[in-house]
Amino acid sequence: MTISKAACIGGGVIGAGWVARLALNGIDVAVYDPDPEASRKVGEVMKGARRAYKRMAAGGLPKEGKITYARTIAEAVKGADFIQESVPERLDLKHKVLAGIDAHAPADALIGSSTSGIKPTDMQSALKRPERLVVAHPFNPVYLLPLVEIVGGEATSPAFIARAREAYASIGMKPVVIRKEIEAFVGDRLLEAMWREALWLIKDGICSVEELDDIMRYSFGLRWAQMGMFQVYRIAGGEAGMRHFMAQFGPCLSWPWTKLMDVPEFNDELVDLIAEQSDEQSGRWSIRELEKIRDDNLVAIMEALSKENKGKGWGAGALHRDYVRQLAGAADKPAKAGKKAAKTGNADAPAAKAKVVKAKTKSADSKSAKAQKKAGKSAKPAKAKKA
Ligand SMILES: NC(=O)c1ccc[n+]([C@@H]2O[C@H](COP(=O)([O-])OP(=O)(O)OC[C@H]3O[C@@H](n4cnc5c(N)ncnc54)[C@H](O)[C@@H]3O)[C@@H](O)[C@H]2O)c1
Repeated sequence: MTISKAACIGGGVIGAGWVARLALNGIDVAVYDPDPEASRKVGEVMKGARRAYKRMAAGGLPKEGKITYARTIAEAVKGADFIQESVPERLDLKHKVLAGIDAHAPADALIGSSTSGIKPTDMQSALKRPERLVVAHPFNPVYLLPLVEIVGGEATSPAFIARAREAYASIGMKPVVIRKEIEAFVGDRLLEAMWREALWLIKDGICSVEELDDIMRYSFGLRWAQMGMFQVYRIAGGEAGMRHFMAQFGPCLSWPWTKLMDVPEFNDELVDLIAEQSDEQSGRWSIRELEKIRDDNLVAIMEALSKENKGKGWGAGALHRDYVRQLAGAADKPAKAGKKAAKTGNADAPAAKAKVVKAKTKSADSKSAKAQKKAGKSAKPAKAKKA
């Protein structure tokens, strides 16, 4: 499935990120958000996203999709084949909003919920056509980070899971379908574990928030960006690999190395402690400045990874490489690519020669080379693929 017309219900941090990814892929988006400030807030996110895409899209970009603001959910979802719900994380509100979407959207439109942790089955009771609802959980900033966890509920049909894979891949994302639905899925379950530990470490005065961030970003944070946990630990086992690693660190499981289920009391004292240390660490930058720094760093990391593995790209870098080519293939005018491509090192992606790499649902590193070869032969511009 490629997306012809999208609707975003909720235009906050995450909703605006979706609007940006869709519009920058050339797709028209209708937004519904009752906040009178919504269009200004989406506009701010769009500014940041345009800046990031201009920097990374060596071969040019499609003509930006049109963003319109609807007065009701019904108006927003009219004629849309892709709908993304990103309203606050409250089950009663999700029910109300999803019921409204379901009642007014075209019967075969795909509905994705951005929820961070609510099981799709718990939301499906509000829908008359629950088979088309999936959780599509993204990571902030949605316009740059490619991962989206796709989770089906008891009533979701396999056909809509397949459509979701295709739809999110078609806008440069890496969909991973979660095999069984659980609260918080995989990403947030891992992040929640780290967050709990982090709160304890600060509360107990073991380190400051800045020291904790340094411990992360100067060490395993760098490892995680290019290999996940298991590939990294396999290497940490030395020549004997994973079995040796597990034998060595297995006994720690019964030592007091974690306080995971024993959560610190959430009170004003804890909030003040964390917020004051965070101000000390980062108060000299505004949130918009921090967003720019974050976006520049993320693009730099993905670009660096896109040149690894003998130029085929590695992990998120392989997908990034394909995505930059896809955007170039759909560019509405020849890009000033020569100069930019040379600057970014993506010398193989000048606009004149750019081919769309068909968005892959499996972009394992080993498959990337094959996909690129194929793309060179058979790719069509993304616009032409639209329904
Ligand atoms: N912030 C994150 O890092 C993150 C990451 C992944 C997923 N999520 C999930 O995304 C969803 C949205 O989170 P967020 O961080 O963008 O929150 P947010 O508070 O920034 O945005 C929510 C938006 O929804 C709007 N809204 C409220 N009621 C509405 C209604 N009835 N119809 C339409 N819009 C309505 C609000 O005006 C607001 O603009 C949540 O389910 C959250 O769990 C958040």
